[in-house]
Amino acid sequence: MPIPFTEEAVHYVAKRIMRTQDIIGQRMAMENASYYAAVGQEMSEIEFINAVLDEADCLLHIDINNIYVNSINHCYEAEAFLKALPGERIAYGHIAGHYVEAEDLRVDTHGADVIDPVWQLLDVAYAHFGVFPTLLERDFNIPPLPTLLEEVETIQQYQARHESNDVAVKQQQQN
Ligand SMILES: [Fe+2]
Repeated sequence: MPIPFTEEAVHYVAKRIMRTQDIIGQRMAMENASYYAAVGQEMSEIEFINAVLDEADCLLHIDINNIYVNSINHCYEAEAFLKALPGERIAYGHIAGHYVEAEDLRVDTHGADVIDPVWQLLDVAYAHFGVFPTLLERDFNIPPLPTLLEEVETIQQYQARHESNDVAVKQQQQN
């Protein structure tokens, strides 16, 4: 079950992230998770994530497929959610396939090919934030290696296409 999106949970999570950062002597990254129920919700998911990131002053591990899956399961606009994340905190990214249980219910399984709307969202993320290191998650239904590597290559192609944009974004952030 997910952590409730409440003020109390923001402090609870942030405190533990800060303690971990103290112990390891460096910042850690928090991932935006997939969830299937929002029990006792007091704030939106994006408000919760941004509040934790701010309070803990930690990095963000952005999962593109999780944004897409959650946007369908919890009826919000994926691109708007993505753009509301603090790009300067992104340390790393994930992309994956998911299971279509119903038109309005997607399950974050990592057991299928990445679908086009998720690739498009990665494209938007690179355009908006600049390129970040990205891992393809695949836990089962694993295809032959050459097929799997095609998806890794697709990530690299997107990254190469956005690399000049990345430089521009970083220059903008410095100014
Ligand atoms: Fe992930």
